Amino acid sequence: MFDPGQVIVGLEIGTHKICVAVGEAGPKGELTILGIGQCTSRGVRKGEITDTQKAAEDIRTALAEAEQQANVEIQEVYLGITGNHITCEDSKGVHPIASYDRTITAEDMADAVGNAKQFNCAAGNEVIDSVRQDYCVDDMTGVENPIGLVGSVLTASVHVIRGRTARIETARRVVQSMQVSVAKPVFNGLASALAVLTPEQKRQGVLLIDLGAGATEYAFFYGGMLRHSGVLPVGGDHVSNDLACGLRISIDQAEQLKREIGSAVYDAAAVRGQYYEVPGETGLEPRQISLENFQRIMSMRLEETLELISRDLARAETFGLAQAGVVLCGGGARTRDIEKLVYRIFSMDVVKAHTHAVSGPADVLANPEFATAIGLVRYGAMRLQTRARSRFGIRATLQSLFGR
Ligand SMILES: Nc1ncnc2c1ncn2[C@@H]1O[C@H](COP(=O)(O)OP(=O)(O)O)[C@@H](O)[C@H]1O
Ligand SMILES: [Mg+2]
Repeated sequence: MFDPGQVIVGLEIGTHKICVAVGEAGPKGELTILGIGQCTSRGVRKGEITDTQKAAEDIRTALAEAEQQANVEIQEVYLGITGNHITCEDSKGVHPIASYDRTITAEDMADAVGNAKQFNCAAGNEVIDSVRQDYCVDDMTGVENPIGLVGSVLTASVHVIRGRTARIETARRVVQSMQVSVAKPVFNGLASALAVLTPEQKRQGVLLIDLGAGATEYAFFYGGMLRHSGVLPVGGDHVSNDLACGLRISIDQAEQLKREIGSAVYDAAAVRGQYYEVPGETGLEPRQISLENFQRIMSMRLEETLELISRDLARAETFGLAQAGVVLCGGGARTRDIEKLVYRIFSMDVVKAHTHAVSGPADVLANPEFATAIGLVRYGAMRLQTRARSRFGIRATLQSLFGR
């Protein structure tokens, strides 16, 4: 189905790091990660490029490392997109059945889905991804496959992820400036979900949360399909900032302390009256910071972020039915006791992500920060598979990525 040894590359331009994953799709669609390239990111804020020159330098470094590790020349990437400009919403597309016998065809389905994508699309925005949910034929709801049914009006329900065209174009041009083309922009939340969620989890109902440095993406699946997604322009950087401001320490110190002694849960009994000595900077004396304040500040910001996600998910009708819990990825998944906090807010089992159904170095597959880049590789592989199927005359759409 694939050309043997097809190389697919995912690029995440993150706030904390640029990450390139190079994968190889075997003849039966099996994926192997051949190499990873990384570089600390300097030109990105809240998931969006704010300094094209610095971003380009860092992307070049990450691409070069990935090329060397995988021993390939990278010509094309699947590009992860995130940021506050992204909107994720359910949309309905209405299409009248015009044929004389009123039998619904695949073209009618495509037209209804196309109308849903365009509905309410503000000027200057474009569709990044869209996932069909189900159809309504006249007054009959919940139809999975309306082909052959007879009706007057076909309505498609589609989860549509849109972004500001200018922001996507900025990222695309920075990548193209190094003679690398963009195969497709993909929402980071979907990419991470592809890397770490199993089909069984998606069937039972599962929430993925990718806790990054400048943005937090989430995607909820139920009944095997994407039901809800979103992004908050808040992440680990905000936790470090709050700690720095609240305790009057430097951002670097706050970041380091967060990783070393931080916890997502405020345990008053354990830290009451306790202090921690932080070395003085630029010739100043060491200082004692209150562990009670430290934990309280850190847990409050994380709790607030998760509460916002929880409130947004209340809009998803099927969220209450989810049985497979919450899966965490992104660097924030390393936060001590984060599972306890997530459990408290969502009342669901919580696990840290592990890439599934991909082979490669164990440390790469277990790394929560690589989920998006590896998911982008999987997205590319599935897209190629879909195209190959279409070439062979089997009706298939990108729906197979996220849908039934
Ligand atoms: N052990 C840890 N405890 C708490 N936060 C951590 C830990 N390790 C990494 N992080 C946080 O994870 C974030 C980086 O995650 P990452 O997924 O790489 O971000 P991005 O995709 O936005 O570049 C940073 O904010 C960092 O502080
Ligand atoms: Mg990320």
